[in-house]
Amino acid sequence: MKKAWGGRFSKSPEQWIEEFGASISFDQELVFEDIEGSIAHVKMLGKMGIIPSEDSEKIVHGLLNLKEKALAGELEYSVSEEDIHLNLEKMLTEEIGPVGGKLHTGRSRNDQVATDMHLYLKKQVLVTMEHIKELQAALVEQAEKNVETVFPGYTHLQRAQPVSFAHHLLAYFWMLERDYERFQESLKRIDISPLGASALAGTTFPIDRHFTAEQLGFSSVYENSMDAVSDRDFVVEFLSNSSLTITHLSRLAEEFILWSSKEFDFIELDDTYATGSSIMPQKKNPDMAELIRGKSGRVIGYLMGMLTTIKGLPLTYNKDMQEDKEGMFDTVHTMIGSLKIFAGMVRTMTVKSDVMETSVHQDFSNATELADYLAAKGIPFREAHEIVGKLVLNCIQKGCYLLDLSLEELQASCAKIEEDIFTILSPREAVKRRNSYGGTGFTQVRQQLKNAQAKLKNRLGQN
Ligand code: ARG
Repeated sequence: MKKAWGGRFSKSPEQWIEEFGASISFDQELVFEDIEGSIAHVKMLGKMGIIPSEDSEKIVHGLLNLKEKALAGELEYSVSEEDIHLNLEKMLTEEIGPVGGKLHTGRSRNDQVATDMHLYLKKQVLVTMEHIKELQAALVEQAEKNVETVFPGYTHLQRAQPVSFAHHLLAYFWMLERDYERFQESLKRIDISPLGASALAGTTFPIDRHFTAEQLGFSSVYENSMDAVSDRDFVVEFLSNSSLTITHLSRLAEEFILWSSKEFDFIELDDTYATGSSIMPQKKNPDMAELIRGKSGRVIGYLMGMLTTIKGLPLTYNKDMQEDKEGMFDTVHTMIGSLKIFAGMVRTMTVKSDVMETSVHQDFSNATELADYLAAKGIPFREAHEIVGKLVLNCIQKGCYLLDLSLEELQASCAKIEEDIFTILSPREAVKRRNSYGGTGFTQVRQQLKNAQAKLKNRLGQN
């Protein structure tokens, strides 16, 4: 079959080599962006008198027909046309005749593919941000219901101090807030038009790059044609922002996996997000949380892959750059899928507040309360720490907790301890009294919730 670039060649590639070099199996995901880019380009060619306006109109018409067919899933791609750009150009010519060949005037696949990638990511980053917002909203919703749900806070995965469950959930809200901001910030570097850079050097035709940029909704144009066709930083940034976001999701996934185990038993995931075992009838596995934890691997892998691909690449376009796509597409799908599932998982989970409450009564996470209490009574904190440490050891040897000790037993270790210690040692009281700004005290958590809700509300309709 005749190639679009076949003039200089005397021999066709073998089919398997052709298949190896082709990108159509995956870059067909850019079909709508490619058509959109071509429409803007050919309108500009007509407007500038580079081609007759009747030809421009014919081509626009042909491209719109192809769009209809693409929407109906009627386009049939072929490997011998290599990629989405050449496939569409061929179909266009079949559709409207040789005049279709004028579309590529003053353009190259190098600026064309870069334009497609910018258009695609601009859309997908906004969708990703929407889903981050949804997950944040789900976290806020659960937090609203659990301000006064007391549960163990951990350091080193050891019980540390009791906290409000809402406080723990909201920590993820703020993590995701930073992710959202990073994606938002990256938009300004995606929202730039490379179109008109042509192969690398610009073109001799009197094109209007600002016109095409405006048609495509880009805020600006690349200042340098060589940079325009070689830049894949925006893809790296997307993969990097996605890597960090999915790393955050993997942390929350890990918590859900732990919390839903018999050992913790703090939450039960809705059946939709779990599966059973083919052999052990009693099992309910947190599959979706595990899968999201696992998917962080591939996203981080694509980031490493992309950086490695462009490392050492001389300007300008090199075929290596065709490797920018699969990782980007897969990351888009992985991120959107993971965020969507997570929002549902958070919304529908059952919080076992009674188990949480019981568990904070069965540990020493109120030991700091006693040490602070003694320190407030003038005992140097280091000494107070030592006194309480010994008491804890006594309790462990006796098989009880601090609240099981009598006032006399407590006073035996320090005479300054009074009756009010029993209120102080109550886990709920311990949480309530942590009223420092951003702390887990109920008043603080309520304030934090308000701030989180305000962030979400300000964002409505922002994008
Ligand atoms: N399929 C190619 C890619 O995705 C399109 C650009 C090809 N340009 C070229 N000069 N061969 O990178």
